[in-house]
Amino acid sequence: MLRNTRWIGRTWPVLALAAVLFTPAALHAEAVEQLLIATMRSMAAAMTEIDKFGKAAGDQPLPVDSARKVVVLAKTIPGIFPPGSELEELPSKFDAPTTTWDDFERFLDAQKKLVVETSKLFAVVNGGDKEAIARQMTVTRQACAACHEKFRN
Ligand code: HEC
Repeated sequence: MLRNTRWIGRTWPVLALAAVLFTPAALHAEAVEQLLIATMRSMAAAMTEIDKFGKAAGDQPLPVDSARKVVVLAKTIPGIFPPGSELEELPSKFDAPTTTWDDFERFLDAQKKLVVETSKLFAVVNGGDKEAIARQMTVTRQACAACHEKFRN
């Protein structure tokens, strides 16, 4: 009897996890999550490349490809959340609280702002002025943080 109880105790969480993982809604949330994290990491990596250019001495090729990548990825963010996606299913590296579908408008506002700032970043990167690039990098990072912070409050 005791042995049986222990068996149930160990198996129950596995069954619960399986139930969560194999419902269609959860599968969708997982796909959203993976795509979002991949997108975010790629944007962060491209931003790091632009930073490296800013800090490097001498003549370096302009990080035009990285700058283009950030704009392109910023534009894909709404597509990662088709209607019905639940923002509350997202992981929260930044300790964002669970959000509801009602927050989607706020989310899109933050995303639009990012597209504006990354487009400006693309323009200054093409210009090659390191000071202008550094300034626009700061503003762009604020646009990143604005979204991360909004979803924390
Ligand atoms: C429109 C909203 C929004 C904008 C703008 C935004 N992010 Fe995110 N980001 C999120 C959400 C939502 C998450 C996942 C939830 C969390 O981690 O709290 C996330 C997570 C991340 C992560 C963590 C990924 C991981 O490894 O788990 C990184 C890194 C990141 N974002 C970088 C950036 C960078 C860089 C920018 C600006 C170029 C940016 N984000 C702009 C919404 C946004």
